[in-house]
Amino acid sequence: MVDTYRDAKAGDAPIIEVAAVTKSWPREGGGEVTSLAAVDLTIRRGEFVCLCGPSGCGKTTILNLIAGLEHPSSGEVRVRGARVEGPGPDRTVMFQESALFPWLSVRSNVAFPLEMAGVPKAERDARVERHLRMVHLWRYRDAQPHELSGGMRQRAALARALVNDPSILMMDEPFAALDAQTRDVLHGELERIWVETGKTVVFVTHNVREAVRLGDRVIIMGTRPGRVKRDLEVSLARPREPNDRDVASLSAVVERELKIEIEKVIREELDDAWTPAGNGLPRDSHRGMGDGI
Ligand SMILES: Nc1ncnc2c1ncn2[C@@H]1O[C@H](COP(=O)(O)OP(=O)(O)O)[C@@H](O)[C@H]1O
Ligand SMILES: [Mg+2]
Repeated sequence: MVDTYRDAKAGDAPIIEVAAVTKSWPREGGGEVTSLAAVDLTIRRGEFVCLCGPSGCGKTTILNLIAGLEHPSSGEVRVRGARVEGPGPDRTVMFQESALFPWLSVRSNVAFPLEMAGVPKAERDARVERHLRMVHLWRYRDAQPHELSGGMRQRAALARALVNDPSILMMDEPFAALDAQTRDVLHGELERIWVETGKTVVFVTHNVREAVRLGDRVIIMGTRPGRVKRDLEVSLARPREPNDRDVASLSAVVERELKIEIEKVIREELDDAWTPAGNGLPRDSHRGMGDGI
């Protein structure tokens, strides 16, 4: 099985390079806040890379920089060796909320990027059908988004993200709002689709188990300021089962690394009397940074 999956990958050439990138924002009342400090990251073609870290460590910022929706304060992002100046059809982002157009059918939602790109109707129809079948939603092609469950909406969003055949798919906590069972099913589906399509996937999550379940690599990010703390290769066999023992034990290692970062943030937020007793996470932590960790 492992070999089959390796064969499906397109090779080891770097497709995304994040080189000495920093990102700062002007602070109200003067000065600036640094959200990313000198991030270096090389992602190979066909790789499935998970960015994992507590809220506020800059995961979404990194996706936005690769997508060309934001620009680095210093350093540069390159895709296939060319500096990223803005968004492009080779990169799409899928978000936690599917953001489907509520007035359009599933089919029309998925067709939308093709219409924008001026793809002729016959080819558009064929590509929409292929992608709706890929996510097992063909039967629901004429449904409206409000008729779908959360998991089905994310399936539709995935079909829409892939329909233009981008080489890079970025996913920002795409399954965070789903229940655990639906999430497990979608992990398996995403793994299959990744193997079938050979896309490079950059997947953001604060859920360690999800990162280890899915990634060829798990990039553990630290915070204050955001940076890459560790870059772990995950060479576990695929397809991975949700309750795989190796996934669980590697997740425990990653969780220990992240706990230090989370405690650091909580310590800054709470008063001096707080200590990391028990699991170290106060129950009322309003930021939800321990969710799923
Ligand atoms: N447009 C913005 N203006 C000011 N600060 C921002 C902006 N976007 C993000 N930040 C700050 O940058 C840091 C990283 O944010 P983000 O990338 O959204 O983190 P994550 O996705 O890991 O939760 C946070 O401290 C956030 O407040
Ligand atoms: Mg985010």
